[in-house]
Amino acid sequence: MADFLIAPSVLSADFARLGAEVDAVLDAGADVVHFDVMDNHYVPNLTVGPLVCDALRRYGVQAPIDVHLMVKPVDRLVEEFAAAGASWISFHPEASEHAHRTISLIREVGCRPGLVLNPATPLSCLDHVLDDLDLVLVMSVNPGFGGQAFIPSSLDKLRAVRERITASGRAIRLEVDGGIKPTNIGAVAAAGADTFVAGSAIFGSADYAATIASMRKELAAAAPSAAVAGLS
Ligand code: DX5
Ligand code: ZN
Repeated sequence: MADFLIAPSVLSADFARLGAEVDAVLDAGADVVHFDVMDNHYVPNLTVGPLVCDALRRYGVQAPIDVHLMVKPVDRLVEEFAAAGASWISFHPEASEHAHRTISLIREVGCRPGLVLNPATPLSCLDHVLDDLDLVLVMSVNPGFGGQAFIPSSLDKLRAVRERITASGRAIRLEVDGGIKPTNIGAVAAAGADTFVAGSAIFGSADYAATIASMRKELAAAAPSAAVAGLS
């Protein structure tokens, strides 16, 4: 089977029991912890910062933590999240004055850099920087809130980004974020995604393991052209 990763977004977790919630989704078969950072400036919502990421590491979370920065400015928080145990750090190009500098900084501090495309962000933002990235994150909702509906045109965008990644010859992950659930994850995989953020679909379900298992079943059935060998 292709190398698919399922990344529950803690945005929809019970924050009063965050450590236990993260343990529960990992025990239920999740691969990655998706950590949404919102600043009430770049997006109209306010969530958590490096202190909480650090707390999860101290609590004992070993899985990769995929930090999705929806903040402006970006760079100062990159160093703080690296120190707090982030594995991947992705950011929105609209929020950084110097995207190439931010990408370089993420790598310098020992993390894997990702660039996030909003629904209205053109693919041209990948020009000149794709080879420096380890991750492209396609937003299938506008950033800021969990529980929104998947935007169907995201499928075309995923296909177009997948083409670029294939042409690059590099093992760049293609992540999708927003409105992902068992009923659409197969189509999203067929369009080229290999890493799937899901917040409300997992944390809003009664049985995390059953929900993740049904996602994996749909992924296996999708047999996507996105199955790129060598992704890690
Ligand atoms: C939205 C966040 C998402 C969000 C996804 O700005 O980046 O990660 O938590 O939530 P669902 O899966 O509920 O759309
Ligand atoms: Zn996110």
